[in-house]
Amino acid sequence: MCGIIGYVGEGDVKQIIEEGLSKLEYRGYDSAGIAKVLENKIFCKKEVEGIKKLFSGFESFDNVNAGMGHTRWATHGAVSEKNAHPHLCCEGEIAVVHNGIIENHKEIRDSLGQHDYISETDSEVAAHFIEEKMKEGKTILEALEALRDVIEGTFAILVVKRAEEKIFVCKEKSPIALGIGENGNYVASDIYAFSGFTERSIFLEDGDLAVVEQNSLKIFDKKGNIVERQIKDFEWEERRDLDDEHDHHMIREIQEQPDAVKRLLDSYETFQKEFFEEIAEKINSSDKIIITGSGSSFHSSMVGAKLLRDIGINARAIVASEFDETDVMEDTVVLAVSQSGETMDVLDAIDVADEIGCDILSIVNVPHSSIQRKSDISIEILAGQEICVASTKTFTNQLVTFYLICKELGKDIKFEKLVEDIEKTLERNQEISKAVAKNIKDENDLYVLGRNKYFPIAKEIALKLKEISYIHAEGLRGGELKHGTLALIEEGTPVVSLIPEKDSGIVSNVEEVESRGAKSLRTSPFYGCFELPESDFLPILFSITGFILTYHTAYEKDLPIDKPRNLAKSVTVR
Ligand code: F6R
Repeated sequence: MCGIIGYVGEGDVKQIIEEGLSKLEYRGYDSAGIAKVLENKIFCKKEVEGIKKLFSGFESFDNVNAGMGHTRWATHGAVSEKNAHPHLCCEGEIAVVHNGIIENHKEIRDSLGQHDYISETDSEVAAHFIEEKMKEGKTILEALEALRDVIEGTFAILVVKRAEEKIFVCKEKSPIALGIGENGNYVASDIYAFSGFTERSIFLEDGDLAVVEQNSLKIFDKKGNIVERQIKDFEWEERRDLDDEHDHHMIREIQEQPDAVKRLLDSYETFQKEFFEEIAEKINSSDKIIITGSGSSFHSSMVGAKLLRDIGINARAIVASEFDETDVMEDTVVLAVSQSGETMDVLDAIDVADEIGCDILSIVNVPHSSIQRKSDISIEILAGQEICVASTKTFTNQLVTFYLICKELGKDIKFEKLVEDIEKTLERNQEISKAVAKNIKDENDLYVLGRNKYFPIAKEIALKLKEISYIHAEGLRGGELKHGTLALIEEGTPVVSLIPEKDSGIVSNVEEVESRGAKSLRTSPFYGCFELPESDFLPILFSITGFILTYHTAYEKDLPIDKPRNLAKSVTVR
């Protein structure tokens, strides 16, 4: 994963890199580092205690016009200062930052002469490779070209050299965008790293090399030809500051759900209508729909596939990391679901589908993201920026999007009460969740029971409890309990059950666990410990209840709610 930002130009280079890195922290927050280009050397600083600490003690980068920063999500080597980027070559002439994985780093290292390696990372080899090629007389650009051709894996790499106000860039699979400013130019993993400084961007393509200078941006394709890539204007409204009302982004984002849903419903009536129509047309004209995503986006894909099957469409959900060519045929329509639009597993699935000739549709939150750019038709879920690592409002809006697609396909769905139902669920369950949270916070294991389209919701609630509250939780199929998992239930085992109707099949499963002494947390509009309105959108209301419960449980445990350990928001590695 990791986030990268670089800038060459006039102005406060330090402020640009600091702001850019804070905006990129969702890509990884294990450690961070910066490099600034000085006349006689590259100055580097690294820190494992956050971006604020990294920049404390710097007034500004006096008289410095080029620099870059990196925020890390560790793949190779522990979280430590020496493993943080940037990495220097032996002579300290050049520094490198990298996002991705250099799979053949050992072979590359063995092919080089004697170099002093400081870190345990795969990335450091890039600095020594370039150093060696420069000693052989190559320019940085030529060295980078040779590096690009030798690396197996995924990469976005930036290189700076002492006394040169330039940033050299290459990329394969990992995203990188250039930003065109008034008095300088930017390069970053995501456009919003430099949003606020500029809103004009160019997305590099796989295999591209680039040289970023104050007054010029040069891009070279795989063949070495200078190429022009389209300039895209973008808008990104960001919400990174917490107000007095909210202690964490997670709860703010949960509370934003009514507005986020309203925005999406309005767009269905207006500027996104044509995309819904086109997607419905594609679905109607195909015999088979495969929906794919990862984590929470896979759970929403499972619900989406069930909703489509309910109206007679042959749809299945396949987890992106296991998607392969046996899942699709030329006439299959593939619908990719992703909040970030950058998840590598989903991008790989799209590549497989594309190779076979399938139409690619997508549902994303982040505009201009790689997944959106690779799709034939894309719907934006318009949830607004989500900062907490756990998806909440974006999961909800993914579900709403599936309901809207079903409506477009002819199902009679009335959305008039949806926003009100969400508001009621939010209002009524805060205090209840605080009390339940106190009761479950010390549990080691918890189970969530669901059936049919509520099973993916059970899995989603369990995922949230694991990642944010650090409680081992599993979503179980109610009907499958008696086939094995019932053995896990003992006196006091907490079990949350999702009961959509008084007489639904799950009730007998709930009774099975209750009669074995489970601590039963029935969740239903009709009875139980949470208060839900009767609604046509219970998958959404159940998950919102689970999000609130997760938040309050993590709060009780004093956990780092927005940045849980070992995770990152955008998962751009395999
Ligand atoms: C869980 C969560 C993750 C993501 C997953 C896919 O709360 O947020 O499981 O859903 O990493 O990410 P996107 O949706 O960006 O493809």
